Amino acid sequence: MSQASLRNLVDGETGTVSREVYVNDTIFTQEMEQIFSRAWLFVGHESMVPNPDDYFVSRMGTDSVILTRDRQGEIQVLLNSCLHRGMKLCRYDHGNNRTFTCPYHGWSYSTDGRLVEKAGELVGVPGYKTHYFSELDKQAWGLKSVAKLVNYKGSIWATWDADAPSFEDYLGDMKLYLDFALDHRDGREGGSEMIGGVQKWRIPCNWKTAAENFNADLYHDISHRSVDIVGIGPGGKGRRDPTPNRVSISFKNLGHGLVGRAPYTEENPYAPLYGKYPEVEAYYRQVYEDRENRLGGKMRVLHSVGTIFPNMAIHGRQPRTIAVFHPISATETEMWRIYLVDKDAPAAVKEAARAYYLRYSGPGGMTESDDMENWCYATESSTGTIARTLAYNYQMGMGHEQPVPGLKGAVTTGEFTEETNRNYYVRWAAFMAGTSWTELMAGAND
Ligand code: FES
Ligand SMILES: [Fe+2]
Repeated sequence: MSQASLRNLVDGETGTVSREVYVNDTIFTQEMEQIFSRAWLFVGHESMVPNPDDYFVSRMGTDSVILTRDRQGEIQVLLNSCLHRGMKLCRYDHGNNRTFTCPYHGWSYSTDGRLVEKAGELVGVPGYKTHYFSELDKQAWGLKSVAKLVNYKGSIWATWDADAPSFEDYLGDMKLYLDFALDHRDGREGGSEMIGGVQKWRIPCNWKTAAENFNADLYHDISHRSVDIVGIGPGGKGRRDPTPNRVSISFKNLGHGLVGRAPYTEENPYAPLYGKYPEVEAYYRQVYEDRENRLGGKMRVLHSVGTIFPNMAIHGRQPRTIAVFHPISATETEMWRIYLVDKDAPAAVKEAARAYYLRYSGPGGMTESDDMENWCYATESSTGTIARTLAYNYQMGMGHEQPVPGLKGAVTTGEFTEETNRNYYVRWAAFMAGTSWTELMAGAND
């Protein structure tokens, strides 16, 4: 798609985005090529594959991938498609396999470093001598592996693009907020694990409609009024524990955005929330004090929700989750929710967290239900012949952005703004134009 056509779709100057961006099949195909084949994507969490030979089937864009831990303990991410005729190798969501054997004609692949030089090499071919006359080049027909992979505090990220910048450059100072979600509540690095399985469900909306919702859209608070009144919060009041002094922060040139507190903001005093559950209350008070002692005056951020471009969102505080918006088609998204807790928290604390998550998020969660209703009706009513000729309005806060001290490349216009969304779509348009990584990253973290 030409630069001129893209300018017609996303106009950062006027704060408008064409509805075609959310409903057009050709644009969707281009997104898969230009964004999902290049960007760093969230694939899973190391606690999905705790033991050698464990595997978990994930997605990168419209591709199925196998997240696996090899016999040497290393994490690998491989395309879940046999090189012979494309059969889906792993059809279960997760399991444990020493070799991946295709059910169609029996080719088998290994990740065991004692047998193969490269994870996913073809090691077994039925009839190799008799039918192929030992002439098949097995090394050339191994499973496709991602170009780059990182295990960041237990979260697994990958890209198909060997030229992609490092994950840390791609993340920029959004890292501080991802850290908040992945670190222990007492301030220790890492220390979180997922509990239960992954909730997965499909909804009829564009994947970006969900992604932008978590990219600091506080303006839709009105649609959660009923949940606030019911009082599903961890302490039985409101929706969640309060986050005083929160602002929306946009990493202007990276497309990431969040709602939380800027660095070096005075720590809020401990707010008791779990009065009904003494053991849970005692735990949260203890980890708050430990965090204070451990981090002292170091840069402290507090994070409630944010999106890492393109399709992963973190709820850093309560409920503490990861959401992924897997694109299926222009108007269908597969939603994933992963729930995080402190690995060494007492069972009662994990159980209280689990119960709260389920009230809040996921297909049956009251807050997520509100959100999904908005996204799905917005998609449906934007697909009409006349409706799709119009644009969406993202003009809130235009021209009022201020830099955020302590965060490179970040701006804020206060608590309620569409600055984060505007910058998300400007980033989207830059990827869609096929812009090189040199151009995409120039000044991105300044
Ligand atoms: S498709 Fe896998 S062995 Fe033929
Ligand atoms: Fe919401």
